[in-house]
Amino acid sequence: MQYTWNDIEQHVTACTHCPLSQTRHRPVMGRGNHQAELMLIAEAPGAQEDQQGIPFVGRSGEILDRLLLDCGLSREEIYITNILKCHPPGNRDPKEEEKEACFPYLKYETFLLSPKIIVCLGRVAAQRIISPDFKITRQHGTWTNRKNCMLTAAYHPSAILRDPSKYEIVKADFQEIAKKIRCFEGGTI
Ligand code: URA
Repeated sequence: MQYTWNDIEQHVTACTHCPLSQTRHRPVMGRGNHQAELMLIAEAPGAQEDQQGIPFVGRSGEILDRLLLDCGLSREEIYITNILKCHPPGNRDPKEEEKEACFPYLKYETFLLSPKIIVCLGRVAAQRIISPDFKITRQHGTWTNRKNCMLTAAYHPSAILRDPSKYEIVKADFQEIAKKIRCFEGGTI
């Protein structure tokens, strides 16, 4: 059976597959353009996302919007989601069993979107999606090909909140991502 975006959202909304369903206020389904060529995958909703049920509406979201704007991209042309759809209390790292319980939702989102480029934001996403031993400090901005999709990782926007000097590093990675997207649009990749 082929799920639709609506089906996935309904399953996420009703999900009780892990204990986070008891502490969340709202599950946070991915958002954005369902025709997007660029998919961003981050870690898990923060406290503000948990209140509103929308990804990247807090301070990390402000940074993300600035990065996108600086690179000539916008939320309207991308799809953004998280490994976990529910907020881990205190913003702790997701547990293995939480990641595995939530992974089918990400798989369906990826299947329906069929993105040309996936960008993992931060260590947790990069280690789950690209490779378990991925080192974000050394390997951000590097590219891998998987099943006709190009994968890369950048620091999570919250890393910029902790250390504003990282902004330029992340911006450089985003500029490369924007270049690749424009190449797809121009038909040169
Ligand atoms: N941080 C994340 O990893 N995801 C969000 O949606 C918001 C903040």
